[in-house]
Amino acid sequence: VRREVPSMPGVFNLSVDETVKEVEAARADGVKSVLLFGLPDEKDSTGSAAYDSSAPVQSAIRAIKRASPDTLVVTDVCLCEYTDHGHCGIVAGEEILNDPTVELLAKAAVSHASAGADIVAPSDMMDGRIGRIRSALEKAGHIHTKIMAYSAKYASGFYGPFRDAVGSAKALGKADKQTYQMDPANSDEALWEVGLDLAEGADMVMVKPGLPYLDILRRVKDEFKAPTFVYQVSGEYAMLRAAIANRWLPESCIMESLTAFKRAGADGILRYFALEAAAQLRR
Ligand code: PBG
Ligand code: ZN
Repeated sequence: VRREVPSMPGVFNLSVDETVKEVEAARADGVKSVLLFGLPDEKDSTGSAAYDSSAPVQSAIRAIKRASPDTLVVTDVCLCEYTDHGHCGIVAGEEILNDPTVELLAKAAVSHASAGADIVAPSDMMDGRIGRIRSALEKAGHIHTKIMAYSAKYASGFYGPFRDAVGSAKALGKADKQTYQMDPANSDEALWEVGLDLAEGADMVMVKPGLPYLDILRRVKDEFKAPTFVYQVSGEYAMLRAAIANRWLPESCIMESLTAFKRAGADGILRYFALEAAAQLRR
C-alpha cells in the first residue's frame, strides 16, 4: 500500500513493506530517525489496535529494526488513530476519561518498546501519563526506552490534514479536543505542562504546532534547558506545499521554517519535509 494523503501531497499512508523501503531510502539520504503513526484495519471504542503486538506499528518497528538496525525508531503513543470516535481517550457520554485512558496508553507504550522502539512519544495530553508510562516501562524491563513527551500540545486547527490521513476527524463531531489539548491563547500553561512531564520522567519535551508557537518553544527552552523538540504539523506542511505548488511562495521557505525552529531553541525538529531538508542540507 502506498496511498497519497489528499490534503498532504507527497505524504503517503504506507504498508509495513513500503515503510521499510521508505526508511532505507531516507537513511541513504541522511535521515536517521523516523516517527511512526498507526492506521489499523479495524477501529473500536477502546483503540485496541494501539496495544496489539501484531498491529501495523508494532510490525513496522520489528521490520525496520531487522532491515536497518541503526535507524532510531520513535512511535506516536495515542488512541485517536485506533478509536472509532477519533478521540485520544476513552469516551463516556460527553467526557473523556483520563485515568482509564492512561492505563491503555501505558499498555501501548510497553507494546511498542517490546517490539523494539527506541523512543515512545505520547501525544494524548492526558494528565499523569508520563509517570504511568515510565513505571510501566520499568516494570516490563524496558529501562533504556526514552520518553519524548508531547508536553505543550495546543488544541489546534493545524492538525486537520493529519486527521484526514488517519481518519480521526470524521467521528469527532462537535466535540473537539479542547478538554485535553491546550488553549492557544494561554502560554503559561505550556510551562506548567512541560514541568509536570519532566518531573514525571520525560527525557525530552515537545512543543506543537511549530511556526505559530515559536514563542512557546523559546520560553520552554529558556525555562527548562531540557532537550526540546518542535513538531511542524500537517497543516503547516499543507500550507507550504500548496503555496509552493502554486508558485505563491518560493521553495526556500521550507529551509527558512527549519531555520526558524533552530533559532527559537529547538534541539530537534519533527517534520514532513525531512527528506527535502536533508537534500538541501547536502547541497
Ligand atoms: C495524535 C496526534 C495528532 C498529531 C500527532 N499526534 C493529532 C491530534 O491530536 O488530533 C498531529 C500531527 C500533525 O498534524 O501532523 N494525538
Ligand atoms: Zn491522539
